[in-house]
Amino acid sequence: MNAWDAHAAQRLADGPLRPLEPPARMEWTQRPGIGPGAEILGEDLAGRRVVELGCGPGHNAAHLASLGARVTGVDRSKGQVQRACAHYGHHGTEFIHSRALGYLTRERERLDVIVSVFGAVGLTEPSRLLGACSRRLGRKGVLAFSVPHPQRTGTIPASPRTRERMTLPDGTAATVDRWDIDPAAWVRAVNRAGLLITDAHNLFAPADARCPTTLLITARKP
Ligand SMILES: C[S@@+](CC[C@H](N)C(=O)[O-])C[C@H]1O[C@@H](n2cnc3c(N)ncnc32)[C@H](O)[C@@H]1O
Repeated sequence: MNAWDAHAAQRLADGPLRPLEPPARMEWTQRPGIGPGAEILGEDLAGRRVVELGCGPGHNAAHLASLGARVTGVDRSKGQVQRACAHYGHHGTEFIHSRALGYLTRERERLDVIVSVFGAVGLTEPSRLLGACSRRLGRKGVLAFSVPHPQRTGTIPASPRTRERMTLPDGTAATVDRWDIDPAAWVRAVNRAGLLITDAHNLFAPADARCPTTLLITARKP
């Protein structure tokens, strides 16, 4: 069982899932209230076709749907999709159990916005996934993704592919493979996929201004 399936299974075992109201804000980091919100995706998302890659329990997908966007959350973990459907399915957000790359290559509909928040971007080989995102975006479509900042421990990892330790809800450990590449390498990978970088934010946790915790990149299809 991979780490996200194990994470979801433990959350599901906690008890029945409740329908939730969508959060009031888009969160690009793992703590609330840091950095920009959904405004970086464009002024008016009403009617826009949006996909979140690696949506987990669906909080950000539900927020984007609450702004009027037509949202699909995609996650490779069946348990995470089960959680997302139970929490936000009643709000009209669609959740699909699939790997991000498979979903992007299978479907044909043009997308206005693709987002990933500590999701599939960074957890999948970047060139193939960014290329697939670029092919699915329509003209002036937006890609925005956040990843753990490669300098979060003070130094950039020597190898672009790292094995990260993750603590599950019950306190046990699991591992996740991550592409932990420096900001300039992300910019090159995004450009190679045929997208133009529009911004790159280094986001810091308020309690510690020494190292950035999150790298948030936005790009646009020409
Ligand atoms: C840290 S969680 C983030 C969840 C959510 N974006 C959030 O901010 O709450 C990462 C999620 O990405 C999903 N994931 C990882 N690799 C994926 C892939 N290749 N395709 C789709 N989902 C993926 C995992 O199953 C997990 O639910």
